[in-house]
Order: sequence, then C-alpha cells, then structure tokens
Amino acid sequence: MTKKIIITIDGWSSCGKSTLAKQLAKSLGYVYIDSGAMYRAITLYFLRNHTDWSDSKEAIDALSKIHLHFEYNPKSLQSEIFLNDENVEYVIRDLVVAEKVSDVAAIAEVRTFAVAQQQKMGQRKGIVMDGRDIGTTVFPDAELKIFMTADIGVRVERRFREMAEKNPNVTMEDVKANLEMRDHIDSHREVSPLRQAEDAILLDNTFIGMQEQLDFALKLVAKAL
Ligand code: DC
Repeated sequence: MTKKIIITIDGWSSCGKSTLAKQLAKSLGYVYIDSGAMYRAITLYFLRNHTDWSDSKEAIDALSKIHLHFEYNPKSLQSEIFLNDENVEYVIRDLVVAEKVSDVAAIAEVRTFAVAQQQKMGQRKGIVMDGRDIGTTVFPDAELKIFMTADIGVRVERRFREMAEKNPNVTMEDVKANLEMRDHIDSHREVSPLRQAEDAILLDNTFIGMQEQLDFALKLVAKAL
C-alpha cells in the first residue's frame, strides 16, 4: 500500500492556498479540506440567527446547533460545505461573511469546535488541508507543511477579480480593506494566531504561476514520501 501523508497549507488571505491545495489533492488522489469554509459557515449561521458571539454562553449554545459536513460535487469537481444539510459553499464567499469571519474565528470555543472536526478528518491521512493554523495547531506532526505568501497588491487583484464576477458592486478598495483587516486579526488573535510553523516551507507565489507552484510542491511531496 502506498504511504499517505498529511499536507498542510497555511498563509495570508488570498494568496492561492486553496488553488494549490486543490491541485495537489487532484494530483495525489487525496481529499482536500478548506478549513476556512468551516469558519465561514459558522459565521453565516451566527449572522442568520443573530447570535451575539461576544457572549460565550450564546456562542456555545449556537455551536451545539451547527452540523457541518463536506460533500464531493462531481459537477464542480470539488468538495463543498454543508451547514445543517444546506449547501452553503457559495454564499459563504460573500463580503458580508468575509467582514465578520475573522472575529468569529478568534473565539476560543469556535476554534475548539472546528479543530476537533478537522483532526478527525485527518485520521486516515491522504489529506490536504488549508487554513491559518493547520501546521501549527491542527496537525503539528504533518509530514509536509507549506506556508504561502504573496505581495498584497497581487492578492487584492486576484481576490477582486474572483469577487467581481459574482458581485459587480464590489470595489478594489473594499477587497483591500477586508484582506488587510483579516490578516491583522488572524495574525494577532490570542488563540492559534496565523504564523509560519518552524518546519514549514515558505512559498511566495507573487511572481510564479500555477503550474510552477504545483511542480514546486510536488517535489516537496516526493521528498516527504
Ligand atoms: O481561508 P479563508 O479566507 O476562507 O478563511 C476565512 C477566515 O477564517 C480567515 O480570515 C481566518 C479564518 N480561518 C482561521 O482562523 N483558521 C483556519 N484554519 C482557516 C481560516
């Protein structure tokens, strides 16, 4: 039987983590898990139910009513997230959710809830998971850890192009403000802040394309195996 490993991809917002994670999962026949989608789905639930997440009792009570799962969609060729059996893969990408998700993801109870499920998903290995704390907290013993970064201007442009397709009212300024705010909160929170694990390999894709970054990562996988 071929050896299977855990690959973690962490990094700043919109630097192409999910693109690389999906490419790797496809090449290796691994499962891809977007951990950010879990924090986004929890945020969506809180917003819809007017949960006051600053009140930890209220947050814990709301979390007890949330069930998250991923299902592979053969049409989109990716696994999509379900919140209490509703496919929310697309609504969670909205700026309304993006504006609040970093605050929600900073809550200790929310992290405990999400991390426990993420660790379960990795039990059988053969998984690529992207996020902010996957190499530091979720899978500290992962065989391969990649930390991604890219120039802020490049990241804003990439995310703007993606969002503008769905929402013509979104501006470059909105996107930039949101990325900067999320990066700040994600890297300054008390619980599991975004940081590069000591044994993670840095990948800056400001000047490299998708194929080049995949080739780079596949070489790392070969070494890890
Ligand atoms: O990867 P993303 O942009 O969809 O993630 C949304 C937010 O969720 C991000 O701003 C920070 C939070 N997040 C986190 O705190 N830990 C993770 N492992 C993944 C995401």
